[in-house]
Amino acid sequence: MAGGIAGALTGNGSAALADPARDAAEARSDLPQPADPGHRIRHVAIIMDGNGRWAKERGLPRVAGHREGVAAARRAIETARELGLSHLTLYSFSTENWRRPETEVRSLMELMKQFIESDLDKMVRENIRVRIIGDKETLPTDIRKLVERAERETAGNDGHVLQIAFNYGGRDELRRAVSLIARKVAEGVIKPEEITETHLSRALDTSGMPDPDLVIRTSGEHRVSNFLLWQAAYAEYVFLDAYWPDFGRDEFLDAVRQFYGRERRYGGRG
Ligand code: IPE
Ligand code: IPE
Ligand code: MG
Repeated sequence: MAGGIAGALTGNGSAALADPARDAAEARSDLPQPADPGHRIRHVAIIMDGNGRWAKERGLPRVAGHREGVAAARRAIETARELGLSHLTLYSFSTENWRRPETEVRSLMELMKQFIESDLDKMVRENIRVRIIGDKETLPTDIRKLVERAERETAGNDGHVLQIAFNYGGRDELRRAVSLIARKVAEGVIKPEEITETHLSRALDTSGMPDPDLVIRTSGEHRVSNFLLWQAAYAEYVFLDAYWPDFGRDEFLDAVRQFYGRERRYGGRG
């Protein structure tokens, strides 16, 4: 394998012969690397935006864009594995997306169902743990059952975590967290002055998950749209012009490369 990587890098050897090991090594060799190996990226969160405009530009219905969006999400899951990320979070339906016409909402629900039905076995096999963040209580029962099944069937997996933000809003998540803590205060379990940031973090849907290192938003929009308001306090943001259905491995690697070019200071002096 080491010879394969060296061969790929120096360009010598039998380039014309098919060699899957060499191809794999070659593919790996373009992966961005951190300047400091101790600061390897772990968690990427993506605001998958631009499906509607992608479809419009092609004279297609919006649902066609959402369908291509699912294909792009699959590619992102693959690339996250290749990059060795521990966590990938995909924003796929916000608490505000209910404001869209009923037909569009229905097709988004349907696509989520189809995605879990078709990909769950693969995720079980590939050691991916699936978690859904967002308000599950107010989801249609069939979707709620399905997402709970996905979480249950992958609960024992410890390879990577795929978090799907579905019926998710950062403000709604904070509201539910505050309500949970207020209940504990009312029950006398904790005193108001004892509440720490850790209590809040643990009351969020992302409890136990690391904060995102990098948030990517596609489609040229430069806003947060209620995504991970608490968790992304010190995330780096990369905004890409590509519409989500056009997001592939190259775009993902480009965003990670940009991330590695940044200096994170966390309010200190670097
Ligand atoms: C992202 O694409 C998918 C969801 C928000 C559900 P959009 O549907 O927002 O596409 P644009 O922004 O209208 O192009
Ligand atoms: C953000 O995209 C939500 C998701 C990607 C699921 P939107 O398209 O809903 O955001 P706005 O309305 O442009 O802010
Ligand atoms: Mg949008």
